[in-house]
Amino acid sequence: MKLFVSEGNPHCLKVLAALEVTGAKCDVQYVNHEERVVPFLSRPALPALLLPSGLHLFSSNAICRYLFEVNGQDSSELCNQWLEWEATELQPALLQALHMAVLQGKGSEVSKVLQGPLNYLDQSLSKKNTPYLTGEAVSVADVVLWAALYPILSDSSLALGDRKSVKIWFDHGAAMHSLQCAAQKVLQGKGLQGMKSYMQKQPAPQSSQCRDTQPCNSSPAESEEGERLVSEEEIEAAALTWSKSLNACPLVANRQHPILPQEGKRNLLVTSALPYVNNVPHLGNIIGCVLSADVFSRYGRLRDWNVLFVCGTDEYGTATENKAREEGLTPQQICDKYHAVHSSIYKWFQIDFDYFGRTTTEKQTEIFSGDSTSTGFLVEDTVEQLRCESCQRFLADRFVEGTCPHCSYPEARGDQCDKCGRLINAVELREPQCKVCRQTPVIRSSKHLFLDLPKLETQLEQWLDKSTSTGDWTANAKQITRSWLRDGLKPRCITRDLKWGTPVPHPDFKEKVFYVWFDAPIGYLSITANYTDKWETWWKNPHQVELYNFMAKDNVPFHSVVFPCSLLGAQDNYTLVNHLVATEYLNYEDTKFSKSRGVGVFGDMAKDTGIPSDVWRFYLLVRASRGTGFSLLLGRHGYEKQL
Ligand code: MF3
Ligand code: ZN
Repeated sequence: MKLFVSEGNPHCLKVLAALEVTGAKCDVQYVNHEERVVPFLSRPALPALLLPSGLHLFSSNAICRYLFEVNGQDSSELCNQWLEWEATELQPALLQALHMAVLQGKGSEVSKVLQGPLNYLDQSLSKKNTPYLTGEAVSVADVVLWAALYPILSDSSLALGDRKSVKIWFDHGAAMHSLQCAAQKVLQGKGLQGMKSYMQKQPAPQSSQCRDTQPCNSSPAESEEGERLVSEEEIEAAALTWSKSLNACPLVANRQHPILPQEGKRNLLVTSALPYVNNVPHLGNIIGCVLSADVFSRYGRLRDWNVLFVCGTDEYGTATENKAREEGLTPQQICDKYHAVHSSIYKWFQIDFDYFGRTTTEKQTEIFSGDSTSTGFLVEDTVEQLRCESCQRFLADRFVEGTCPHCSYPEARGDQCDKCGRLINAVELREPQCKVCRQTPVIRSSKHLFLDLPKLETQLEQWLDKSTSTGDWTANAKQITRSWLRDGLKPRCITRDLKWGTPVPHPDFKEKVFYVWFDAPIGYLSITANYTDKWETWWKNPHQVELYNFMAKDNVPFHSVVFPCSLLGAQDNYTLVNHLVATEYLNYEDTKFSKSRGVGVFGDMAKDTGIPSDVWRFYLLVRASRGTGFSLLLGRHGYEKQL
């Protein structure tokens, strides 16, 4: 390990202090400020640490963290948070302060520039009651902050004001031999003036107003105007290098269809939840299901895993029937129209499906009429439902309105009352009305099929124990699944009195179709069957295949409980979910995206902004990777600002 530093460079003070404190074994070499130590950087970057692997670290905080880690001290979350604060909040102010004090002789104004960060530090320290930032012992965060503040805080001429907690904390550090020793090496006993020749070579820092949109760092890659000093040529060169090595990778270029599982390879079957066909997809759908699966599949292909990535539109159900009525088209026409819209939007977003199909195909019906309809695990029961005689159809819960039997609110929906929040059984509504024609529906009983989930529960739990402990399940997916199981499973009705759906292959149920949520996941199978006749080599091959399901979090129970039960019930050695990745909802500013209220950014709007899809992809992924709930902050003029 070798550490390259230069005299008078304040960032070198941090790493030398970390080296002293940890006692890590490492050669130190002094070079001049201009020396290019890191071979692939076109600008000098000091300090730099050459690792035993031949790689370089050239961010001072990363070097400090590394030195602590080598020493067996991993940094805690809190510690990382302080390092982050140091880099993004403290450094910009500090740089400006040093510039003023060292070069402009404006020592009296330094206090103004630093008061925000220093007050914050003071308050945090005084709240904590521990001698150090993260507890009872010195951590990398203390060392980094001490070293960063040392030149300023040890200069008594600057009159920064009294901050009791900062003072006590800083004095601890200043009393340490290691910090003194590092300071002596870098500043040569000349105090702030020891940094003069270094500061003169640095571009002037940008003023603090610009910091919100672009956190600046102390690297010399910042120009006078505060813009990143990356030239067009450098960007082109980077893009070229990236695309060259991509194309040079034969695995990615030569994808031969149909892709089938191969002996001796990692065979990954990747799905993203099938988006409903009755609308234009919005960014929430894109990040929620297709983009994350796309990125993962691309990654898998680069790793030379054998990946099949399938998806398609979810086309049956009441929602499609209603959209058809609204637009004066047949359900089939609606599906054709919006399937094409979905395809083209995903194409623009560069979602690289191996196959993008749909659920309304012959194969879907075929699979249901085969042996796979869970015959041993179905029960029949009679259900009371509301039927509108004038519309000639049974009414799905959200198409009935009436008076709430609990609180008498006159506009309660068939499933829930918006006033008192209670769940309602549609047949209990007083004065029910059909939302389409306003006639009074009648109660009819009709026979339905139920999937006997209680009978499958033990098998399911055995599978889930194994899958969730060995596979990649996001925390939200595990938690949602656990809470479903905790409440105990009840039989689930899988048929509906509708026309637009997969017919139920049973003489007693001629007038009925399968419920869309029972039908849709079978779409994964039928879509694969439309891609290749050998679909069973993927779907009935759990020993060779790993199944990855990507989805938004509201889809979790259907993929972790209901669908696996359908497959287990079919008793045909189906491939079950091994990895379940659920994304949080995407918000628009501070509210939820909503198709019905027209809130959000829809795929075609994103395209119309003229911002390239790569930028959207990157932006969405960065926001999504922050974990719990994330929002798109676009504001009125916001696209440019945020992107
Ligand atoms: N169409 C559903 C939605 O958009 C998702 C169906 S996923 C499937 O929420 F697995 F059931 F197909
Ligand atoms: Zn009606």
